[in-house]
Amino acid sequence: MGGVTSVPRERPIGVFDSGVGGLTVLHELLVALPHEDFVYLGDTARFPYGGRGADELERFSLEVADVLVKRRVKLLVVACNSATAAALPALQRRMMETTLGIEVLGVVKPGAVQAVGVTRNGRIGLLATPATVRSGAYQRAIEDVDPHVTLLSVECPDLAGMIEDGFPVDERVVAMVREYCGPLREGRVDTVILGCTHYPLVRPMLQRSLGPDVSMVTSGAAAARQVEHALASRDLDARREGEGDYRFLCTGDAEAFRTVGTRFLQMPLGDIERVAAGTERAAA
Ligand code: DGL
Repeated sequence: MGGVTSVPRERPIGVFDSGVGGLTVLHELLVALPHEDFVYLGDTARFPYGGRGADELERFSLEVADVLVKRRVKLLVVACNSATAAALPALQRRMMETTLGIEVLGVVKPGAVQAVGVTRNGRIGLLATPATVRSGAYQRAIEDVDPHVTLLSVECPDLAGMIEDGFPVDERVVAMVREYCGPLREGRVDTVILGCTHYPLVRPMLQRSLGPDVSMVTSGAAAARQVEHALASRDLDARREGEGDYRFLCTGDAEAFRTVGTRFLQMPLGDIERVAAGTERAAA
């Protein structure tokens, strides 16, 4: 973890996702860390990430990270499960090469650690995009914590897009949720990782389908705890009394980002700046 202590604590935390979904993660960060400033980038022009291959996701993630490095962030949080699963090691290598050495945290490990801590029967379920499930990242992360825990993974290729498009939620989403939860019910898991940024928005439906005794772990809540710990232990936490600010960048249409994003963040969005990813290089 070399180098991070020299990054000024006054800088914002950079957060990125394939689009608006990561705002569910930012929401948790804003609640857990009210004194911090945040800059969030949604790569909406290239949404969705969940059906893409690992090489492409790695390239996109590095491009997006370069934009945030130019915004002088002190820490980078990969709010997207698909990007974390495909690109975390590459991002960590690239960010350590920047002048100050910026640390990168993803959402997979915190979710896995929390789920292993919660399960009582040693059977955990995962709902996630095909990119996340096929990467095996959650499987590896859980094995690292406890190799005796069983992970049952279900690819949900259409759920994120349907949640993003559909509001109010209709019967098609309910039917899809039931279908994806079926193998987890049969597999008698007692804990389910919502391994995709969008799924907290249908949490009540998932809980109803899985049953009241199943515990759910969301990426945002688990990641917020890890970020809090990382900032404090590295002396990077903002030392101010009042609330910090948060601002938004996106690669697609800014007004579309605002319309859909407000629902995901559950807080007002201020200015949204449109940026190009892939044309700016890291310089910090
Ligand atoms: N943000 C993505 C994830 O958490 C879901 C949406 C997408 O497919 O881009 O995996």
